[in-house]
Amino acid sequence: MGASQEKDVSWLKREVVRWWQENPMLYDWQRTLRAPVGTREFYEEVDARLWAGARFMHGPGGTPFGALIDYERWRGKRVLEVGCGSGAHAAQLARAGAAVTAMDITGRATWLTKQRSELFDLRVEVLQGDAERLPFTDRSFDLVWSWGVIHHTPRTDRAIQEMHRVLRPGGEACVMVYHRSSVAYWISIMLVRGVMLGGLLHGSPSELANHYSDGRIARFFVRQELVDLMKDFSAVKTRILSQPTDVYPVPHRLKPFVIHHVPERFTAFLARRWGVFLYAHAVK
Ligand SMILES: C[S@@+](CC[C@H](N)C(=O)[O-])C[C@H]1O[C@@H](n2cnc3c(N)ncnc32)[C@H](O)[C@@H]1O
Repeated sequence: MGASQEKDVSWLKREVVRWWQENPMLYDWQRTLRAPVGTREFYEEVDARLWAGARFMHGPGGTPFGALIDYERWRGKRVLEVGCGSGAHAAQLARAGAAVTAMDITGRATWLTKQRSELFDLRVEVLQGDAERLPFTDRSFDLVWSWGVIHHTPRTDRAIQEMHRVLRPGGEACVMVYHRSSVAYWISIMLVRGVMLGGLLHGSPSELANHYSDGRIARFFVRQELVDLMKDFSAVKTRILSQPTDVYPVPHRLKPFVIHHVPERFTAFLARRWGVFLYAHAVK
């Protein structure tokens, strides 16, 4: 990449930071969160929304994200969360006994995660930093966890290289990015917004996908693209996941009705095939 392209990317990075600083990840798209920011009720409500939307990722007994994170394995291990948002996953891992470091590119997210950790008496080291240039020495962590982050940064490839660098040999990376072969991408965005509502007359597919997703940038990958980006890892396994709401291309207010009336197994089937989350587990 030439010097002029580097300059473009740094301009875009500032936009990315600004977007997330103004719209921290609170799972509050309808702006209905009433609890005052920074209170227990506030964090409990944020988590309730995140866990409710992620029910296909829960483990036995409903442990949030227990289908993806074997919490017991990470007890006492060094875990890095890249792009911690309001700190829900970092808190969950710290509660399970992991030695957690959480980082995010915005001051708002790092403040929220620090404040949450203090409020709930959890030991989490929190830093502001860039996934593309992690402020850690090589081989510092046993696990890197990153949920919904590196498709929002200009250089996803660099973020993955950095995860690889800071993991010890045999360490593991768990990463979620957006999935292009999904109902959300092809039906909700490209067909409905792009073709039927004419969005593709005014912008490219990637501009349209950005516009109807969160973040200043939102890239969608197919499995093989993510596997290729993770080529330095010794083993990479991918899975498709989804929130139930993302597999039905109907207006927002109708989604609860549809989800309630369609058999849960069918929704889970759609989520596994055409869900919007592309998840990779990789070993260094
Ligand atoms: C969709 S939110 C996800 C937050 C959290 N992982 C969650 O699941 O709730 C994306 C987060 O990534 C952060 N982010 C975006 N680009 C980043 C980068 N280059 N380095 C670190 N964090 C970044 C944003 O500030 C934001 O908090």
